[in-house]
Amino acid sequence: MEELERLRQSCLGCTRCGLCQTRNRVVFGVGPAHADVMFIGEGPGEQEDLQGEPFVGPAGKLLDDMLSIIDLSREVSYIANIVKCRPPRNRDPQEEEQEACIGYLREQVRLVSPKIIVCLGRIAATRVIRPDFRITREHGTWTKRGDVWITATYHPSALLRDLSKRPASFDDLLTVRNKMRELGMTK
Ligand code: URA
Repeated sequence: MEELERLRQSCLGCTRCGLCQTRNRVVFGVGPAHADVMFIGEGPGEQEDLQGEPFVGPAGKLLDDMLSIIDLSREVSYIANIVKCRPPRNRDPQEEEQEACIGYLREQVRLVSPKIIVCLGRIAATRVIRPDFRITREHGTWTKRGDVWITATYHPSALLRDLSKRPASFDDLLTVRNKMRELGMTK
């Protein structure tokens, strides 16, 4: 069995934190075994919890549009979350829940080996980039870790709530597109 699939199988039975008691489905992540760009969200919402796939609810529709703006699609991108099980009533995942789950994401990053990681929203950015990362001030900036370029933009749910953030997020997507070009990932 392929390593990523083996990881998925072990994640599906996970009981490392209390979220296992209220989840319907584990939302491991989707995408090709090797993808140049990985998007990281916060955690499953209601629809994701029911369907077992990340970003399939209203925020997911907007994420699809965001991908298409930079000529990407779900077929070629890897999409995952910081926590794999839905926090009750979509509250923020707690520190211990993130800590219990982050090993899965680290392994996903190692195996999928993306050249670019795009954090979606504050929770992903503070966990992946820096604990004191300020999304309003630092979205669209780049950090390099090893061979991987990492940036953050607003979470699609925030863009659904607050239209005034959309132009900034569009600019962030263009910087992702530019980075892809710089790294020779586009024609
Ligand atoms: N919000 C997230 O952060 N992740 C999902 O998968 C869905 C909504």
